[in-house]
Formats: sequence, structure tokens, C-alpha cells
Amino acid sequence: MKTTLLINGHRNPDDSKYGKALFLKASELKEVTTHTLIEEYPNFQIDGERERALLTEHKNIVLQFPLYWYSSPAILKEWIDEVLARGWAYGGGTALAGKKIMVAVTTGGAEKVYQHDGANRFTINEFLRPFEQTAALCGMTWIEPFIMYGVRYLDQSQIDAACEQYLQAINELQ
Ligand SMILES: Cc1cc2nc3c(=O)[nH]c(=O)nc-3n(C[C@H](O)[C@H](O)[C@H](O)COP(=O)(O)O)c2cc1C
Repeated sequence: MKTTLLINGHRNPDDSKYGKALFLKASELKEVTTHTLIEEYPNFQIDGERERALLTEHKNIVLQFPLYWYSSPAILKEWIDEVLARGWAYGGGTALAGKKIMVAVTTGGAEKVYQHDGANRFTINEFLRPFEQTAALCGMTWIEPFIMYGVRYLDQSQIDAACEQYLQAINELQ
């Protein structure tokens, strides 16, 4: 059985460079099931039953996305709204309790702008709090997010290094 469900919330996976590098690297792992939401649901008509079954089958969940306006692309928010149903994920439901969840984010902004005295005024962990609290409400174990900051400033060796770190972070979920 595959243990980790890697959900790609990119809006335009074909135009992705940095997230794609991470995603392709992670998909080499035999324990990982990859799932690109916009390819499955180009019209945003998410099949909640199917997605809940996929989540049930896996121990660990990774939500990967590019930071868009300090949050996720809309397809991932729609997925959360549709899939994490009351009575199943929370509000008496415990289907996700005990599963590990890791968010993996690429950002245009460099790490130094994600500081209280930086241009974006808040840290990335602060921007990610809605995800962290969603996980908490569902009884999931929140793993330290994987962040690839300032992607356009990275050279190929730094991209390769980030991919290796991503593999390691996913392996450590097992
Ligand atoms: C609509 C849109 C909104 C974005 N908003 C942010 C943002 O709020 N903060 C940031 O650091 N980068 C932002 N970016 C830059 C993306 O995060 C960056 O291009 C992406 O992570 C690169 O990964 P990719 O090659 O997989 O697309 C935005 C890009 C787009 C297209």
C-alpha cells in the first residue's frame, strides 16, 4: 500500500518550473501516490467521495502548491471545502485523525521578505495558519512545512538541493 498522498494544487502545472521539479522528484518514491487536482478536475467539479476514499487509503498527506496571494491557488481551497466534510473530517468524524500532514510551498518572495520586519510583514508559518488549524480541527499531526523560498533567485544546483531535501522530508513522514 502506498503511504503518502501527494496532492498538487498548482493552477497551471504545465507552466510550473520549481514546483514541477519538486513534484517529479517526489513522484520517484514508490510509497507516494501523486494527484494533480487541476488535471483531475479542470472544471473544479471535485468528486468528494473519491477524494475521501483516497485520503482514507493513505497515512500521510502532502499538500504542495505555489503561494498565490499569500495562500493556495483556488483549486486547493475548493478541494478543502468539498472534501473535508462535517461528520467525516470533523464535527464527530475522525477519518483523518492521526494522519500526518505536510504543506510544501514554493514562493516568489525570498525568505528575508517573510519576516516581521520584511516586505511581507508576516512569516510563512503565519500565512499558513489556516492550513495548520484545519489540520488541527481534523486531529491531524502537523509537520513542519517544506518551503522553497525565492524560487527565481535559485540556480540549478540550489533547485537540485531543494529537491533532495524534499525527498528527505517526505521520506521522514513514513
Ligand atoms: C497569481 C499569482 C500570485 C502569486 N502570489 C505570490 C505571493 O503571494 N507571494 C509570493 O512569494 N509569490 C507569489 N507568486 C509567485 C509564485 O509563488 C511563484 O511563481 C511560484 O511559487 C513558482 O513555482 P512554479 O514554478 O511551480 O509555478 C504568485 C504568482 C502568481 C502567478
